[in-house]
Amino acid sequence: MKRELIAYKDPKSPVSEIFRTLRTNIQFMNTNKKLKTLLVTSTLPGEGKSWVASNLAVAFAQADNRVILIDADMRKGRLYNIFGVLPRPGLSNYLSGVSERNQEQSNLINFLRETEIPNLYVMPAGNIPPNPSELLITPQMVDLLEDLKEECDLIIIDGTPSKLVTDAVILSRIVDSTIVVTAHNQTKKDDLEKVVKDIKNVGGNIAGIVYNKVPVSAKKYNETYYYSSIPQKVQMNSKFDYENEERREIQKKRATDMLARDKNRIEEDLPRVIRSQQREEQINSNKTREEKTADVLKEYNEYLKYEKNMRNRKG
Ligand SMILES: Nc1ncnc2c1ncn2[C@@H]1O[C@H](COP(=O)(O)OP(=O)(O)OP(=O)(O)O)[C@@H](O)[C@H]1O
Ligand SMILES: [Mg+2]
Repeated sequence: MKRELIAYKDPKSPVSEIFRTLRTNIQFMNTNKKLKTLLVTSTLPGEGKSWVASNLAVAFAQADNRVILIDADMRKGRLYNIFGVLPRPGLSNYLSGVSERNQEQSNLINFLRETEIPNLYVMPAGNIPPNPSELLITPQMVDLLEDLKEECDLIIIDGTPSKLVTDAVILSRIVDSTIVVTAHNQTKKDDLEKVVKDIKNVGGNIAGIVYNKVPVSAKKYNETYYYSSIPQKVQMNSKFDYENEERREIQKKRATDMLARDKNRIEEDLPRVIRSQQREEQINSNKTREEKTADVLKEYNEYLKYEKNMRNRKG
């Protein structure tokens, strides 16, 4: 298993502690309805979706939750590599062949991998299918989540970047909540606004935004940590930047309050820009929620058409 699985490799590290805080926030978020499916997305590639999804899954498993981590990035999913498990068969194989297989072959167990971490199972992405987006909107995907829910306490889905492909936006409708990972100095404000808007417009529920890759002061940082090997010192938040405990606590709270405990808090925790934009929208927009959903779906259908054309061209 990879070193980037820091919550497992080094449970005492500050980063692991942050993942435990994130876990606690998520646990206490939906008080009336237990959260069972959580999607992780971001605006563009490389912002840390797989890293956050994997370590968060470890944090949940360490707290005695049975966790299934699904790699829904069927184009270039690498969860199998992070956890050191067989890449195939996986999600794409399940979704594309589920109707044709006989009972025995379609047994879900064949698509799940046990990991070194007790309570944590991974469903790898599987073979790269020609039509990943189409597979994700099949009723089989909904059925799969329903079936897996019976087997575990929490399903975490590592998704695709929502600005590039609409997979995650569409998945956001069928999961309980969605986390959007943003990366310091990388994620564009406009992109984040658009992704959050799209998810909300299709009726998705946003749990919160994770601010990833915030630089830390190199001096105070123990060189053995995983990310010290990359040139720019990066970390989930800037916990090590402060001198005294009090400031440290405030900073930590700010950085780890990415997920709110209830609906009101969620609204407050979203970056101010998004809130003011939403207010503006409420005032300016004559469009109903249905019309907004139709807009996103139109965009999605256009994308599917594009994917189909590309496939026909290739095939
Ligand atoms: N906080 C962090 N500190 C150090 N490295 C990080 C951090 N978050 C992510 N990385 C590294 O950045 C790279 C990209 O992260 P990751 O693969 O999780 O991104 P992603 O959003 O899943 O990308 P993709 O859209 O390509 O799947 C990886 O090498 C990962 O280990
Ligand atoms: Mg990824």
